[in-house]
Amino acid sequence: MARILAIETSCDETAAAVVEDRCHVLASVIASQDDVHARFGGVVPELASRRHLECIAPVIAEALERASVSLDRIDAIAVTQGPGLVGSLLVGVCAAKAIAWQRGLPLIAVNHLEGHVRSPFLLHPGIAFPAVALVVSGGHTALYACPEEGVYRLIAKTRDDAAGEAFDKVAKLLGLGYPGGPAIDKLAEGANERAIEFPRAAMKDGSLDFSFSGLKTAVRVRAQKDGLVAKGPAAGEPMRDVVASFQRAVVEVLVDTTARACELEGVRTVLLAGGVARNRRLRRAFEEAAPARGWTVYAPADAHTTDNAAMIGEAAFLHFERGSFASLDLNADAALKLGGGMSRPAPPRPSSSKEDRR
Ligand code: KG4
Ligand code: ZN
Repeated sequence: MARILAIETSCDETAAAVVEDRCHVLASVIASQDDVHARFGGVVPELASRRHLECIAPVIAEALERASVSLDRIDAIAVTQGPGLVGSLLVGVCAAKAIAWQRGLPLIAVNHLEGHVRSPFLLHPGIAFPAVALVVSGGHTALYACPEEGVYRLIAKTRDDAAGEAFDKVAKLLGLGYPGGPAIDKLAEGANERAIEFPRAAMKDGSLDFSFSGLKTAVRVRAQKDGLVAKGPAAGEPMRDVVASFQRAVVEVLVDTTARACELEGVRTVLLAGGVARNRRLRRAFEEAAPARGWTVYAPADAHTTDNAAMIGEAAFLHFERGSFASLDLNADAALKLGGGMSRPAPPRPSSSKEDRR
């Protein structure tokens, strides 16, 4: 039995979790910064890193306390190395290195995107490969082919806004608050999603890449025409129809592109991940598409869609089991890529391992 303390600070959530044997989450603590960034309608990087600094120690302490374990009973420290905001990432990386050094524990660097891709495994540990993973969050929208465990190949990415970013920007424009995804999800429920036919971008070069900026502009033009800008939910049915039609456009693009990716890869297992995977319309669309397409769709529990450290802990077990540890000169990498096999090459095991200290 092994236990990993995982730390995640890539954007605006300070998170720590204790995960046992891959998928048993003994504790998962998330300090959200929504209150800090709400009035700006988006994450302010400098404010995010400052808040991480305030929260990191208490969040780690709370995770250990809720899990009823001390650091003596932890076998490795895992941390998100990237991608993300560099100032935010650095807080987590420094905290993880400090604990690993002080306790003589192995350090595991996890790619944030690998964490998202692995998040459904916390609920469904036995998912079989190959699979196609759709990661839809505030910072990323991408499709990965996952031929086997720990191997990822980027099939498609967004060329401009991420899907969650489009939700957030549209919500800001319409005066619906931050984060925009949950607000639009709620407001769109029961509205006429066929009221407006918003454009869907298709790449001229035949690639599966996404683009949401044209859709966002179309919503802006329509909202200006209908006098809806910044009116918020008080604008009533016309507002609900706009957000529901926008949401349908995003969802249809995501389902259709995932379908093309699955056909190309000859794959029928679909993994959904990231904050937008919490969207109820998106979940419904994948559930409805599954029987005809022969898909089995796996989504994470709601708590593991948006940024959290439990998914980092789960992904860290792959590296732990393979003895793939980071050295104490690990640095944050804001532009870390996922898509070339294991997310990090295996550096040598640190000299001061737990066993060495005994
Ligand atoms: O995964 P996440 O915490 O962030 C990144 O790693 O980037 O996802 C946050 C994003 C935000 O853009 C938020 O608006 C969106 O996920 N989101 C949703 C919903 N809940 C969160 N989007 C659509 N519908 C939702 N219910
Ligand atoms: Zn994320």
